[in-house]
This record gives sequence, C-alpha cells and structure tokens, in this order.
Amino acid sequence: LKTEALAAVERADSTAALEEARVRYLGRSSGLVEIKKSIGSLPVEEKKTVGRSSNEATRAIEGALREKVERLAAEEREARLREEAVDVTLPGVPFPKGSFHPTQIVIDDVVDFFVGLGYRVAEGPEVETDYYNFTALGIPPGHPARSMQDTFFLDDGLVMRTHTSPVQVRTMLATEPPVYVVCPGRTYRRDSDPTHTPMFNQIEGLAVDREITLADLKGTLAAMARHVFGESVEIRLRPSYFQFTEPSVELDVSCFLCGGRDSSCKVCKGAGWLEMGGAGMVDPEVLGNVGYDAEEYTGFAFGFGPDRMAMVKFGIPDLRMFFEGDLRFLRQF
Ligand code: PHE
Repeated sequence: LKTEALAAVERADSTAALEEARVRYLGRSSGLVEIKKSIGSLPVEEKKTVGRSSNEATRAIEGALREKVERLAAEEREARLREEAVDVTLPGVPFPKGSFHPTQIVIDDVVDFFVGLGYRVAEGPEVETDYYNFTALGIPPGHPARSMQDTFFLDDGLVMRTHTSPVQVRTMLATEPPVYVVCPGRTYRRDSDPTHTPMFNQIEGLAVDREITLADLKGTLAAMARHVFGESVEIRLRPSYFQFTEPSVELDVSCFLCGGRDSSCKVCKGAGWLEMGGAGMVDPEVLGNVGYDAEEYTGFAFGFGPDRMAMVKFGIPDLRMFFEGDLRFLRQF
C-alpha cells in the first residue's frame, strides 16, 4: 500500500492530482485508515508490528506529499514567471508624436515675449455682449463700424466677439491700474477667402500706467517683432483709425526674408512690409468707461493676427489650410 501510495504521489503532476492522491491514501476511507481501525481486533503481538508499520507508512506518505507540494508549487511559480516575463530588449510600439499648430507656435512666442516683460495673460469669453464688444469701446448702437466688422449676431444682445478688444474692457473693470496684459483668443467675422476665415485668432495687448506714450508703444512693438521674426526686422507705424484708440496706427514689419529689397520675394510679394495689426493710444473715453482717471493714466493697446503672422513666418499661401485639420499639413511643424 505504501509503495503504491508513494508511486502515486510521485506521478502526480499538478496540485489537483496531488490532492486526489492524498484523499485516496490518507483520507477517511483510505486503506491505511481501515488498517488502523482493525488494529484493536488483532492479537497482541501483531498489534505492535501492524501499528508501527502503518504509522510509519502514514508518516512516509505525508512526508512525500509535503515535499511534492513544495516542488510542484515552485515549478508552477517558475512556469508563471517564465510566461509573464517581459522582453525588455524588444522594440517599443511606436505612437505618433503630435505637433503644435503653426498659429499656436506664434501665439506662444508672442505671449512668452510679453510675459518676459512682466505682462499677465488675460482671457475673455468668445460669446460676448454687445456692450463689451462695441459700446464700451466707443462703437455705439447704430454705428457703421458694427456692420463693417461682419459681426455674427446672436440672440439677446450677444455676439460672437469680432476682436479681442473686449478683453481690454473686462480687464480694466476687474483691476486697478497699472495694467499690463496680453490676451490671445479666438475671434469671429463673417468672412471667407484665402486670407480671411470666419474664425481666426487675435492677440490683444494693453498697457495702462502713468506717463505711457506712443514711444513706449513703438518700442514695445519693435521688440516684439524682432523676437518673433528675427533681430534684423524693422517696424513701421502708419496712421489709421479705431474707435477706441487715439491716435491709431497700423503696424507693419519689414519683410524678414528679403528685407524689402526683392520685388519677387515670396513672402512680401515685393511690398517690403508685412501688415501685423492695429494699435494706438487708449482713447480717454474708454478709460472713462471703465472708471479710470484719464488725467492720471494713459495707455496703449494693440491687436495682432497670429494666423497672419504664422502665414508669413512659415510661408503658407492660404489661411484656410490652418483650419482644415489635414495631418499632412500639420505634421510639418
Ligand atoms: N481690435 C482691432 C481690430 O480687430 C485691433 C486693435 C486692437 C486696434 C487694439 C487698436 C488697439 O481690428
């Protein structure tokens, strides 16, 4: 019986098979237990030998079982480890790297520049009230500038903001001067051709402090242009008109590619100058609208088109490519 049991234990090749062998040879209805039960009815001298050898057999089988359990557990653990092993030398699964949108590259660049000068970043809603988008900026109801801006009108006196200038108003209402902010954001006009899209971006800037002059504006714009387009570019301010600045100017940057000397230049088409946006000294009336003392404070403001800036910086012929989401286009940046 013992030999048979030991052989069964040896044969068992899983913890389950081993358990089966244990029940069969040591369990309540096993041969060994039967033998032990019958010992009482045996003659005295046989009692001793049968008792001793049956106990010895039980111990031997238990020992073999214990040893086998350990061996099987170790084997099973090893098999699992082998199966779950990770080959760290295999090449990784490649996944495509994203890239920044060209407009975002310009926005980040301009914002970085102004943050470096100590400006804060401010934002405002894209759905704006008529008041902030127009009236507070000196464009009262019925003013022709409202239709000139190709406004998307919504219900209840709301509009899609046509520029980021309402953020000037919101910022000044929320803070006391001095104020130095840049406000990047999306803007909307009903317009679509190679250089206009219904949604586009602007970066507004506003500085209000004591003794701010047009010279500060010019110096700031020149430094910004050099930061974005290179050390050799120059700027030019042309007289212009906006309801919320006085005087108002248009900012041109000398062509960073040809410097304005090449009539066949791909970037400036021989014009020599690239239009960047509008600017000017904040109209005292606007300062009054937000409760600032226009006797004590003056300020300048500007609004650039980073989409347009990205077009010239990267040589992109059609603005609409920025909004098509074509990965072949976007992956180049
Ligand atoms: N908001 C003007 C526009 O969208 C640009 C501008 C901003 C002009 C700030 C002057 C000062 O055309």
